[in-house]
Amino acid sequence: MALTDEQVARLTDERFAHTRPDLAGVPDVPREQLPPGLRWPAFFQTAGLLRFRHRFVPYLHRRFGDVFTVRMIPGGRPLVLFTRPEHTREIFAGDPEVFHAGKGNAILGPIMGEHSLLLQDSAEHKRARKLLMPAFNGAALRSYQSLVTELAGAEVATWRDGTTFRSLDRMNALTLEVILRVVFGVTDERRLAELRPRVNRTVNISPAILLGWGWPRLQRIRPWKGQVDNQRELDRLMYAEIAERREAPDLAERTDVLSQLIRMQEDGDALSDAELRDQLVTLLLAGHETTATALALGAVRDRP
Ligand code: HEM
Repeated sequence: MALTDEQVARLTDERFAHTRPDLAGVPDVPREQLPPGLRWPAFFQTAGLLRFRHRFVPYLHRRFGDVFTVRMIPGGRPLVLFTRPEHTREIFAGDPEVFHAGKGNAILGPIMGEHSLLLQDSAEHKRARKLLMPAFNGAALRSYQSLVTELAGAEVATWRDGTTFRSLDRMNALTLEVILRVVFGVTDERRLAELRPRVNRTVNISPAILLGWGWPRLQRIRPWKGQVDNQRELDRLMYAEIAERREAPDLAERTDVLSQLIRMQEDGDALSDAELRDQLVTLLLAGHETTATALALGAVRDRP
């Protein structure tokens, strides 16, 4: 049965009641056992990382070397940054029962939800991976090829000789279009038009909003209130799409990710509406800005 608007709003509010990071789970590691770092108050270090990362991180790198600690609000939690590719490789290839990526991504919880692949570890992560993987196998990816070619062609056709634009803006618009179509399939243009600004606003989350998450009461005032309202609206659209798709007469033939996930049954296991919502938001967000940034960087590097 489809959720009512009030039930959806309650789900959004529950997520946003927990924007403050759970400090109870943070081990109290003595300063001497951590890599070096500044002695500035955590507020300034957090602001430096969120707002001036392009200058702040190189400054810390020059001052402290390849591995250093930044203190984050609330509570001055230590965040250790690594700058060498071999360290990254070691962490990513490390034992997943030790390197809990899901816990490390907890800040994404209010947006992506507790079921998100990016927030889960261990057995839960394995289960979600097993359910999601078939939607991204070789055959599934090849089926998206012509759609991507068509959308890229349509985007480039709007570019005019002699005009200047930011490549990142155009790549973001293109990859958002691709991911919306790949995830939802060709849905009605009205729903896509409603989704685009909601997804954009979710992604363009400002450092001020993130900093304010440590104090959930701020959500009663702007700009934090506007961000929660945007999430409520995004959730309403997502749950409406999920409910409609479950009933779609052509569900069996559809090749988009949402339809594939609804059809998926692994040993009688299937994704609930809340799980579907969390994985879809994850794919929409993880799948578009990352790719847009890589494409925009490529465009700069390849410039004659
Ligand atoms: C150049 C483009 C991309 C880059 C640089 C990138 C980068 C990353 C990184 C670094 C992670 C690991 C995060 C962590 O474990 O904390 C990750 C995970 C993930 N990415 Fe991407 N990504 C890109 C494109 C995409 C696309 C196109 C999609 C979806 C269509 C996507 C979906 C995901 C998902 C679902 C995860 C979580 C996987 C898991 O935990 O099992 N990414 N990505």
